[in-house]
Amino acid sequence: MDLQNRPLKKRPLFSNRLSIITVAAGSAIGLGNIWKFPYITGKNGGAAFIIVYLCCIALIGLPVLISDFMIGRRGGKNVVGSFRALAGDRSPWLFGGFIALFGSATVLSFYGVVAGWSLGYVVKAVSNGFAGKSPAEVGAMFNDFVTSPIAPIAYQLIFMSITAGVVYAGVKKGIEAFSKVMMPILIGIIVLLCIRSLTLPGAEGGIAFLFKPDFSKLSAAGVLDALGHAFFTLSLGVGTMITYGSYIDKDENLATTALQICIADTVIALLAGIAIFPAVFAFGVEPGQGPGLVFVTLPNIFVQMPGGYFFCILFFLLLAVAALTSSISMLEVSVAYASEDLGISRKRATLFLTALISGVGIICSLSLGQYRESLTLFGKNFFDLADFAVSNVEMPIGGAISVLFIGWVLKRQKSEEELTCHGKIKVPLIAAFIFTAKYLAPVGIAIVFLHSLGVI
Ligand code: PFF
Repeated sequence: MDLQNRPLKKRPLFSNRLSIITVAAGSAIGLGNIWKFPYITGKNGGAAFIIVYLCCIALIGLPVLISDFMIGRRGGKNVVGSFRALAGDRSPWLFGGFIALFGSATVLSFYGVVAGWSLGYVVKAVSNGFAGKSPAEVGAMFNDFVTSPIAPIAYQLIFMSITAGVVYAGVKKGIEAFSKVMMPILIGIIVLLCIRSLTLPGAEGGIAFLFKPDFSKLSAAGVLDALGHAFFTLSLGVGTMITYGSYIDKDENLATTALQICIADTVIALLAGIAIFPAVFAFGVEPGQGPGLVFVTLPNIFVQMPGGYFFCILFFLLLAVAALTSSISMLEVSVAYASEDLGISRKRATLFLTALISGVGIICSLSLGQYRESLTLFGKNFFDLADFAVSNVEMPIGGAISVLFIGWVLKRQKSEEELTCHGKIKVPLIAAFIFTAKYLAPVGIAIVFLHSLGVI
């Protein structure tokens, strides 16, 4: 269907360019930046890994993000509706829409659990729960918390209710208004944490770890981690950026917007690194701890640091706020679909889908604790399975579908119209973008995908 034949029913649009960037960067910036990026950087040896990660963002992440925006804005509907509008009613490309629906719901089910932990840790930090504890005790505390049957689920449900409240309020009054308040708070907190970390004696070791590359520490698995994480951190392949793209005004420059979002996301990930590693080095802690880096190592450091009580609260608050602006974008994918294509009211859709996704999240949470033995499938507990299914399978497939669709299916002239706002603006490097969408990005994605399945 052509732009001119878009359905007449009025859809909401983000108010202006700043709103678009705030909301889409709010989706991109989340646990991926503050929890995952630091620990995979620690695990993969620091600066050399970061250089590869930056290349993955520029060469693959950015083209996929532009493609997602193009599909959303040109299609002008939810993720399934956009593919339908562009490819036709019975096109196999609709699979791209349905798999994204599945992916966004799955990612939210386990993301809500980790975000719940962050909320729980805000409360622990406020009640000074880490004071006087040895590192082993803080480690045991984390383990007891995430494996207990009640507390993490209660926090997960609180987190999911806030997410639902924002989405329930709508695209402009909920998502846009919320992100506009939360994102500046997030930036303020992270800058404060960086200043605290950088002024600790011995902070230089952390800065060298982040910015002085040592390529001997980089492995093939590290390169693949970098590419996989580029997808996760930019919220690609699960329909989020397609759905948000459909709320972007037709006169906005999509390529520049996407570039600014990549830059914002990268800057926040690096700031998270700067907030964490100087402290890690100043206190002589091992940087390659894995997922416990943020929940175990950091509280240990905070208790020894001047002002640690406040910085600990601020840190977990930062994690929770960042997670919220991402989780609303995940829920919006299926809510937009249900309300537009299934004719369910937006409010009902929000309630029903939140209940469904939270239910799956509860299973993920329980699968880490006493039901570990029974809640497993294909040798993984449900939590790990949801994470694996999205990050290693669904996101690469969804991302590949977007670039392949733009590279091979959408007519070149239509792509140019979308990128140049029907000739109103000049955009350089269109040929390079199309080339990347056709060849480079799909091949790169195929490599990660096959590796993550153990084929190569
Ligand atoms: N980009 C988010 C992060 O880095 O935490 C995660 C995410 C958000 C993934 C939205 C997928 C999504 F649809």
